[in-house]
Amino acid sequence: MRSEPHRIFVCTSCRNKVTGNRPGDELIGKLRRALRPSDPVADTNFAVSGVACMAGCARPCVVAFQAAEKTAWLFGDMDPETDVDDLVAFARQYRDIGDGWCSSGQRPGKLRRTALARVPAAIVPVETGGKIRP
Ligand code: FES
Repeated sequence: MRSEPHRIFVCTSCRNKVTGNRPGDELIGKLRRALRPSDPVADTNFAVSGVACMAGCARPCVVAFQAAEKTAWLFGDMDPETDVDDLVAFARQYRDIGDGWCSSGQRPGKLRRTALARVPAAIVPVETGGKIRP
């Protein structure tokens, strides 16, 4: 049975503040190679794709993690020259945490200090025996 993919979105519009280059496509390529099927992480079916903008424009390059019933994450200041290992390490961590939630001290390397958003998974209340439960 194939599991729902863990999605990694990379902004393709962000520009490096010094060079003016757009590093998104390079970062997408490096993440796809690092998470290719020969890597155990690929068993979780990661999908890496580009997005035009995720509203973190002041902190290029912006990368997001999202999966069903998990906390969604947005990180800024990602550089394809220096941060691929940290992003791959976080991908493995994110895969292994049931709800995707972790503190800054638990995240690898640069991702400890570059979170722009941590959005909890949706909680859908259900009615059981006349009581609403989360
Ligand atoms: S241009 Fe990259 S987040 Fe807006």
